Order: sequence, then structure tokens, then C-alpha cells
Amino acid sequence: MKYAIETKNLTKSYGDFLAVDKLDMKIKNKSIFGFLGPNGAGKTTSIKMLTCLIKPTSGTAKVSGYDIEKEPNQVRNKIGMVPQLVSLYKDLTARENISLCADYYGIDKNIKEERINELMELVDIKYAEDKLVKQMSGGQKQKVSVVASLVHSPDILFLDEPTIGLDPTTKTVLWDLIQELNDEGHTIILCSHDMYEVDKLCENIGIMNKGHLVAFNTPQILKDDLMKEKENNMKNQAQDNGNMNNNLTIELSVMVDNWLNDETIKEIENLSFTYNLRSSSDDEGRLTVDVDKFSHKDGINEVIVIILKGGGIISSISTTDPSLEDVFVSLTSNGMKK
Ligand SMILES: Nc1ncnc2c1ncn2[C@@H]1O[C@H](COP(=O)(O)OP(=O)(O)OP(=O)(O)O)[C@@H](O)[C@H]1O
Ligand SMILES: [Mg+2]
Repeated sequence: MKYAIETKNLTKSYGDFLAVDKLDMKIKNKSIFGFLGPNGAGKTTSIKMLTCLIKPTSGTAKVSGYDIEKEPNQVRNKIGMVPQLVSLYKDLTARENISLCADYYGIDKNIKEERINELMELVDIKYAEDKLVKQMSGGQKQKVSVVASLVHSPDILFLDEPTIGLDPTTKTVLWDLIQELNDEGHTIILCSHDMYEVDKLCENIGIMNKGHLVAFNTPQILKDDLMKEKENNMKNQAQDNGNMNNNLTIELSVMVDNWLNDETIKEIENLSFTYNLRSSSDDEGRLTVDVDKFSHKDGINEVIVIILKGGGIISSISTTDPSLEDVFVSLTSNGMKK
């Protein structure tokens, strides 16, 4: 099976309101997919259809090879779901909640307890197994919810904003877990507003806006596309103004272990495509300079060559690329792309 999820014209309307409009999407098997979009874009509604919690108004989808309308029970057996709002029984303990879930999926009594122990240890919540859910913190409940969704080893795990409100350490624990589950072969569908999280974890990203899928690609390609688009805009603007010096720059930052001599710095400063050079000469040196990407594609290489020629021992090089956040804002703020 090549795709864990395939949707075709998947649509959900509430009265006249189209929450999800003809969603066409293919999510690769065994990948981590990130679902982004502003509040009310239709992410949770899409996930609810794919997890058979609500019926589509029209269109179809296959999840793990099964049709969501014709074979909902097969779909349910193949998926796990951590909902946006934790849905656990408040008057039961953590372990009792997970145990109920295991019984729902018919997990063999002989392996059930061991499996629950293993998972609780994995997300570090075993210490709180006998606590009532109503006495737990948000992060603890989130971990119980994750364990409950995993007891039956689902092929596909849906996580709807799983790390919202979690402290940085707990977030990292969950990110590691998501990565680990994926390494074991689980497909992960991750809804999130955390761009760093999505950029770090996801192979592909879909951006929804007002019920439409407005972008679908790898994080890097989305960022590269935005960069190209910006470049073209700059080029057009420059041509309109008859001014080719309208520059789109990338900030290049180089750390060197030793001091850079004045001639080297001067040479970089005097290049026609560098601007705004800043150098700090603490124990080690940092040189930061804006390099014109538009008129000089190899500008960064030339700066590096000059540093090396001048005897600089480089310990790190970094550039500022557009972030996924820039892509998100560009695609969801100025109306839709299609
Ligand atoms: N049961 C419902 N009845 C009517 N409208 C609904 C219902 N459920 C969702 N909607 C509407 O559908 C739209 C999409 O909602 P959805 O929950 O899918 O958004 P989302 O992308 O998950 O947003 P968020 O990032 O805030 O979680 C919203 O405008 C919402 O008000
Ligand atoms: Mg949502």
C-alpha cells in the first residue's frame, strides 16, 4: 500500500457553510504528515471524517486501504486518535481509562497489562497510573490520551494539536515518541500550530485555509517556493522602477575561531553584493553580512572563500532562510491561492 490516506473530493458542510471543500489529498504510508491552517480552516473536521467520527457530505476517502463510509469498523481498527480536546473519563484513573480502551479493541488479556506498562513507561506517566484523571494536569492527561490511542498498535495515528500547552521538556518527550513510532512504521497525521514542531518532524505538509487545501509539499520545497516567489516579485519591482539595485538579501553569519584581519573584513565589505557588515571581535569572531541573492547567486561562496584565504578558521556558518511561518502567513493571509 503506497498511501495511508487517499481522499477524493472529501466535503463537509454544516448547513450552507462549507467546512471542508473537495479535499483531494494523498498521504504516503509510513510518513509523518503535518496539517496546518488557521483556526477554523477545517483540519479537525477533515480528521473527524477520516476517523469515522462524522460522515462526509460528499466525496470519499480510504484510510489504510479501507473506505471510511463502507468499511468504518476496519478503519477504526487501523487507527488511533488523540483528539484536540482530551476525552477521558474524569472519574476513572489513568490506568483504568487505558484499560477500557484496550478492552474496546479486544486486546488479549495476556499481553494487555504488559503493553500498558510498556507504553506508560515510554511516555513517562507510569508514576501517575492510579491518579484520577480529574486530578491530573493538562500535560499528564495528554500523555494518558496518547497511551490510550496506542494500545492496539494502530497503523495510523492521528494527533490533533498534541503538544498544545505542554512544557518544553514534555513537548520534546512527545516529539521523540512521534519520531520513534514513525521509525517503527506507523503513519502519523499531526495537526499543529507549532511551525517548529511541524518543520522538525514532518516529511510533507498540507496547509488548509477556509476549507481548501492551499499547499501540499515538503517543508523545504514550500520554503524554496516562497523564496523564489519573493525573488520574482523583487525582480519585477526592480524592473518596474528601472532600478536593478533593489536587493533581496540573505543574512550570512560566520563564526571563526580566530581573529579575522582588517584586510579580509575590508575585502568582504567592498564586494558589490554585500551590505551591512557587522563583525564582533570577542575571543572568537562573528562576522554577519547581508548577501544579495538576487544579483549574485554565488555571493555566499565568495565571502567564504575570502575568509578562508585570509586565514579564518570557520567553526560554523548559518544563513536565514524563510521560515515555515513565513510560508504559512503568505498562503493564508492574502486570500487563497486557488
Ligand atoms: N458541528 C459543527 N457545526 C457547525 N459548524 C461547525 C461544526 N464543527 C465545526 N464547524 C465549523 O467548521 C469550521 C472548521 O472547523 P475545524 O474545527 O475543522 O477547524 P480547525 O482547522 O480544526 O481549527 P482549529 O485550528 O481552531 O482547531 C469552523 O468554522 C467551525 O466553526
Ligand atoms: Mg482543530
